[in-house]
Amino acid sequence: MSLSFDQLHGTNKRAAEILLGNDRGGYTVPSAKLYPFQWNWDSALVALGFSVFDPDRAWQEVESLLSAQWDNGMVPHIIFWKEEKSYFPGPEQWGTTDIAKAPPTSGITQPPVAATVIERLLAEDIDAHRDRAAKLLPKLDRWHQWFLDARDPDGRGVVAIMHPWESGRDNLPDWDRPLSFVDTTGIGGYHRRDTDIVNKDERPKNNDYDHYMALVRFGRDCNWNTDIIARDCPFWVAEPGMNAILRRAESDLIRMARCLGNDDIAARATARFARLDAGFELLWSETVGGYVTLDLRRGEHAIGLTSGSWLAMFAGPVEPARATTMASTLTHWLDQVEHGVPSFDPAHELFDSIRYWRGPVWAMINWMIATGLIEHGETDLAERIRRDTQSLIDQSDFREYFCPVTGRGGGGTDFSWTASMSLYWAARPETLPIPAHLSQSTAPTGTADQENT
Ligand code: DGY
Repeated sequence: MSLSFDQLHGTNKRAAEILLGNDRGGYTVPSAKLYPFQWNWDSALVALGFSVFDPDRAWQEVESLLSAQWDNGMVPHIIFWKEEKSYFPGPEQWGTTDIAKAPPTSGITQPPVAATVIERLLAEDIDAHRDRAAKLLPKLDRWHQWFLDARDPDGRGVVAIMHPWESGRDNLPDWDRPLSFVDTTGIGGYHRRDTDIVNKDERPKNNDYDHYMALVRFGRDCNWNTDIIARDCPFWVAEPGMNAILRRAESDLIRMARCLGNDDIAARATARFARLDAGFELLWSETVGGYVTLDLRRGEHAIGLTSGSWLAMFAGPVEPARATTMASTLTHWLDQVEHGVPSFDPAHELFDSIRYWRGPVWAMINWMIATGLIEHGETDLAERIRRDTQSLIDQSDFREYFCPVTGRGGGGTDFSWTASMSLYWAARPETLPIPAHLSQSTAPTGTADQENT
């Protein structure tokens, strides 16, 4: 049941006001100055917040996102709906105008959390939302298929990213070594805009940006040809966050397709799920004791756990012994900081508490981790993470992310997905999947299905 805006109070009302303030008419910007366009996974997660007080607006958000799908199935990470000079790199650097048609977009994608969000929007009232969801399912199906075709052409069962920005976790220490093989000759002379707006200590370093721009150049030079990218892109890594979110998205797509009677999509998604389910094992590192990034060019695992490692439990069932180990390692992480969940191992020498994805806490990752924990019976730990998230917002407002040591906010202000997560989590503390009997559940078992049987 959704509430009206007038029924919201206090923090919830303020969160809704942030969403409305960042609404540009059918799409929402993550933060007015720092990110003035539509971002892929931001937008999907923002729809959850809107669903609390304006379901129609929530659907518009995912519809506008998926309307920018490329002919090859990819849904881009940024959609440049309007001209705006305050962001770099803009449409000229991406060079996608011929491919994206109108409006221009970036040339890469982001974690496909949209199916999981749409499943939740649908589950709120299946009869009311059936038609809208049915129109989006083929787009999700094509996007998910694109991931396997373009980013896993060898059929290993893990999808690669060709740019750190595709993971959505831009400057994770995991990328340091794979990026060191990227040639940055001739890159330079560009003007970063992000550090005009945010303190430079909270953002990726200039050296990181040189590598980001070298990879944009690589993609632009091959006209974003996915065969060339898969064969030659110097950065080609599989990481647990992206793979977990895609695997989860497939099981949520199966559930929706069965509920809406689309057997073809359900069958294709089931086949993809099986491939991703088997491939996920490649990310397990016995040395680190968890799911970590795998550099596919060199066959090397990363040396530390990240907040993406915990998303394995969001992806689907983790075998009990591993789930117990993960829960106890996560508890150990939380015991070392004031506020969880840090984005990188707080005991690691590369941990940096305020620099973007090298330490800070992100509300939407917390929500995904907690959802997975609940589905594995770790409800106390999930509740601890929910409380931590809300106390960070109470202390430092709706910032982009938070220092796990002091609770200080970092990055953008009045941030959409922080507001959305706060609002949605308060309104829907439990998972709310499509009931199993409506999904005629031959879908992969073990995630949300378990709660309804
Ligand atoms: C940025 O510009 O910092 C974004 O994270 C890229 O998507």
